[in-house]
Amino acid sequence: MKAAVLHNVGDDKLDVRDDVTTTAVGAGKVRIRIKATGVCHSDLSAMNGTIPVAVPAVLGHEGAGEIVEVGAGVTSLAEGDHVVVCWSPQCGACKECVNGQPQLCMAYMINAFSDAHFMFDGTTPTFGMAGAGTFAEEVILLEQGAVKIDPDIPYDIASLLGCGVMTGVGAAINAGKIEPGSSVVVFGCGGVGISVIQGARIAGAATILAVDMVEAKLGWAKQFGATHAVTPDQLPDALRELTGGSGFDYAFEVVGRSQTIKAAYSATRRGGTTVVVGVGRAEDMVELSAFDLFYDEKNLRGTYYGSANIRRDFPRLLALWRSGQLDLERMITRRLALDDINDAFGALSAGDVIRQVITFD
Ligand code: APR
Ligand code: ZN
Ligand code: ZN
Repeated sequence: MKAAVLHNVGDDKLDVRDDVTTTAVGAGKVRIRIKATGVCHSDLSAMNGTIPVAVPAVLGHEGAGEIVEVGAGVTSLAEGDHVVVCWSPQCGACKECVNGQPQLCMAYMINAFSDAHFMFDGTTPTFGMAGAGTFAEEVILLEQGAVKIDPDIPYDIASLLGCGVMTGVGAAINAGKIEPGSSVVVFGCGGVGISVIQGARIAGAATILAVDMVEAKLGWAKQFGATHAVTPDQLPDALRELTGGSGFDYAFEVVGRSQTIKAAYSATRRGGTTVVVGVGRAEDMVELSAFDLFYDEKNLRGTYYGSANIRRDFPRLLALWRSGQLDLERMITRRLALDDINDAFGALSAGDVIRQVITFD
């Protein structure tokens, strides 16, 4: 089958090849025919070493498809089920899962770096990014990593839930816990940032300021619920105008850089909340004033996978989509084939798109 392989961290292109196979579907696992997969900035971050990945690897982690085979012992899924791929499965039984932070479940983390469920060239074991690897016609996945959805939901819409939309809306609602009537600033308006903006709108924020250096993103941000949108150089004026200089109730960093984390922290009002959504490099240190941390009493927190409880939140997101409150259709700015994956990375780097979705039929 066809899949897009990263041979070495640092390569600037994926190798789309026809000789990729999967391992047999083992106990507790399922085989999924991928129907749609979004292209997320984290795929680029795996290529350039920001996010750790075992190589060679089939990249892609934001997908949806149909179950075509179930392994021994699988009870919750059957052939023909439509599913969203979850790159961070939740076991439901560990301390984190039962204490209300299932997004931090580590039960299957080792699987992602030890279970090479692809092969190319007939001989070379190949990993799947984060245990998934949706830039492929088929993947083998743990049962816990596939969340069943209603069959009438289009696969391209469903694929977005798997990463960007869950991460962004979850950041706003689960991590930020945005209150109605509040003021919000969002740094970075890609697929994840636009999802934060939608989450803020759904939560009832009165003011939503979008910040991005790409002009086209500012117009898009307003279409999805931003009440104001500026380039970074215009931020000081906007902050004065919208908050009287005191700062926003909530600030979201959706880029993944120390510089924007500091900017988000600075733009947060005393006692407000700064949420780090973007994934930065391990060695990119954020310098904050020890006195300010005390004196300003801001809440600075990260959010992993939108702090999601996937079996609660995927249905919630779909209910919001069905009711017209979560716009997923317009987030898909480009559809393409797996053969065009490297072109997709070019468009993503240039900021030309919100989300690109690869379809397989
Ligand atoms: N200030 C404001 N916006 C910026 C800056 C900056 N200094 N640098 C980059 N941006 C904007 C880009 O112009 C782009 O619109 O951030 C946006 C990032 O969007 P995408 O590249 O589409 O990335 P996305 O898939 O949304 O992911 C964002 O979240 O999940 C993580 O790993 C992911 O760190 C990444 C982040
Ligand atoms: Zn768990
Ligand atoms: Zn992602």
